[in-house]
Amino acid sequence: MKRTRPILRWPGGKTRLLGEILPMIRPHKLYVEGFGGGLAVFLAKAKSEAEVVNDANGDLVNLYRHAQFHLDALIHEVEFTLASRSDLEALIEQPGLTGLQQAARFLLCNRLSFGGAGTSFAVSKQGQPSRANVLENIRALNARLDKVTVENLSYERLFTNYDGPDTCWFLDPPYTVGETKTYDAWTDETMTEFAARVLDLAGDWIVTVNDTALNRSLFSRHHVKPIVTGSQSVNRKKLPKATFGELIIQRKMAKTVAFRTTTVAATRRVA
Ligand SMILES: C[S@@+](CC[C@H](N)C(=O)[O-])C[C@H]1O[C@@H](n2cnc3c(N)ncnc32)[C@H](O)[C@@H]1O
Repeated sequence: MKRTRPILRWPGGKTRLLGEILPMIRPHKLYVEGFGGGLAVFLAKAKSEAEVVNDANGDLVNLYRHAQFHLDALIHEVEFTLASRSDLEALIEQPGLTGLQQAARFLLCNRLSFGGAGTSFAVSKQGQPSRANVLENIRALNARLDKVTVENLSYERLFTNYDGPDTCWFLDPPYTVGETKTYDAWTDETMTEFAARVLDLAGDWIVTVNDTALNRSLFSRHHVKPIVTGSQSVNRKKLPKATFGELIIQRKMAKTVAFRTTTVAATRRVA
């Protein structure tokens, strides 16, 4: 079956780590993705009995709710925008009047801009993405969001509302290094508070974070799998060239599994 794909370019998207993350998802009843972004993992995994996707970004959630409940109207708004620099400039100047227009504008600014940041036109020598594919992906997202709860909460409230022994959490918070134009990086303090809350969860969990000594120590009692990647999904101007480390951490249950460092090939685009 064809996999549903993210409809947006999202910094920090986990498409390139799917091969690592998907096999780690253990049996559960309720799947909750706390930091949904482009929804790479949610869209690639098998359906669960119940599912919640969440993000603190209101524009992003507005888009997903329109894809979920107003598919034809959203397609209509998106369909006739050409992939041009002037389209992007017009969209940036016109913030959108209704929730529907704002949803279409958010998607189009993301698709037309460099790195999905919504600011400068994405010059491409490979040509623009197929409009037919963009529309097909929105339709596929609509089908995949059937029966899914789409939340717009900060993760703390999500933990209170949805945690339990049958919950499986996938948690991919912002990195504590680099920068994106789409959302703010976290500080070490924010990450430390987050880790304390994760360690208190009753449910099973998988967490992905950037590889730092602090992040390793925060989760050191659990399975910590280091990944070396040439990811270009965050701006790493201030970071060492060519390598970027991430950690995939899984809640330690009864059995211990030994993990080795894995190297994942660089991807050219954010997804
Ligand atoms: C690394 S991205 C997630 C990427 C996603 N896994 C994907 O594959 O596209 C982190 C996301 O966390 C969201 N975020 C930041 N702070 C948050 C908070 N306190 N609660 C919930 N979401 C938050 C951001 O808006 C951003 O979309």
